[in-house]
Amino acid sequence: MDGGLEGVVAAETVLTDIDGATGTWLLRGHPPGEVIAAYGYEGATALLWEGFARSGLTRAAIVEAFAAGRATAFARLPGWLSMARGRPIGEGVRSLLAALPDDSTPAEIAAALPVGIAALLRAERGAEPVPPDPRLATAADFLRMTTGTLAAPPLARALDAYLTVVIDNGLAASTFAARVIASTRASLASAVLGGYCALTGPLHGGAPGPVLDMLDAIGSVDNIDPWLERALDSGARLMGFGHRVWRGRDPRADALKATLLRLGPKVGRIGFAEEVERRAIAALHHRKPERVLETNVEFYTALLLEAVGLPRGLYAGLRARAERRLARACDGAAKDRPPHPPRRTLHRSRAEGGVRLATSLALNSRARNQTEVAARGQNTLLLALQNGGPHARGA
Ligand code: ACO
Repeated sequence: MDGGLEGVVAAETVLTDIDGATGTWLLRGHPPGEVIAAYGYEGATALLWEGFARSGLTRAAIVEAFAAGRATAFARLPGWLSMARGRPIGEGVRSLLAALPDDSTPAEIAAALPVGIAALLRAERGAEPVPPDPRLATAADFLRMTTGTLAAPPLARALDAYLTVVIDNGLAASTFAARVIASTRASLASAVLGGYCALTGPLHGGAPGPVLDMLDAIGSVDNIDPWLERALDSGARLMGFGHRVWRGRDPRADALKATLLRLGPKVGRIGFAEEVERRAIAALHHRKPERVLETNVEFYTALLLEAVGLPRGLYAGLRARAERRLARACDGAAKDRPPHPPRRTLHRSRAEGGVRLATSLALNSRARNQTEVAARGQNTLLLALQNGGPHARGA
């Protein structure tokens, strides 16, 4: 077993069928283009949640449940927003999920995100939140709550396509994290919060913002090759390329590209981006001929969300959408079987001794529980540092 659990079968699932070698992505049997055209975000959520959140789910039922969830989230806004206002958007989303009650339903968790993120974006401009409209689907209502006016239908359709096509991608780091948390019988809100935290790193769902930073830094066609060579010489990763599972082309990247092109040939910086893409794949192939390093979903995610008019600081937050983590968290096998993969101890850690010491103190059970949780928090932090988390470099 290597550090990334490569080759370890961690779950059996009836959800998305993903084969990175053949480029297969089937959401309960449906390929990405079909899910976008025939189901949309709410219909895809119904497919994903069927048998987990409820049975007999339909697109209309999810539209209705999400509308009710947005109303609940809007009613709760004042308590949370005063604390989150003024913080970077990613931190705001983390606090939004942390503020959810433990007994929140799946629809309430999923619907809190568009309401909270729109309110955060408006707060950045000094504007008051706009109440949700229950007649609209999530993508259109999110854009309306963000700008205060109804979005042009092609933009709402493009955002809907994005939300639909990234709805599930198997046991990615964030969904795996959510599943681990749910397996201890922690609340769904806790599982989604943990999954979101795993998502935010730039090697995972945090990649789209840096994709745009990269396009900005390259600036012109003349600078593409020199910039890419310098970046690769310095050991940097090219954002939007490579994937833990997709060893060829990720079909979702192509579905998003097709969606982007439907917005019009002049939209955003598609021509320039395509040239960067072509040359980046060639440069990666030159450096790693034994490895297929292709465009991943985050490259066209970045371009699509930019074209829809959303700020780049928000992209990981948008991916925080709860529906995939909820389905994965509920997806049978891991429930009640918290994973405990074997590890080889290289040296004895002081924090482990600390946990034992803290739990052996004569405390009442409530204080003992909290002390143990705090001590184990230290242990978890230490393991994260050992695994090369970002703080390892900064400490
Ligand atoms: N740029 C430069 N080099 C790369 C890249 C890249 N984008 N991707 C992989 N490599 C290199 C690796 O450093 C490794 O080099 P080494 O053998 O000298 O150590 C080699 O190629 C082989 O790597 P893989 O095994 O194919 O990649 P791995 O599975 O380790 O990593 C990952 C996958 C983390 C996604 C990586 O490709 C990467 O960092 N990409 C850039 C960030 C990104 O776009 N993330 C979003 C992914 S999509 C998602 O998570 C939703």
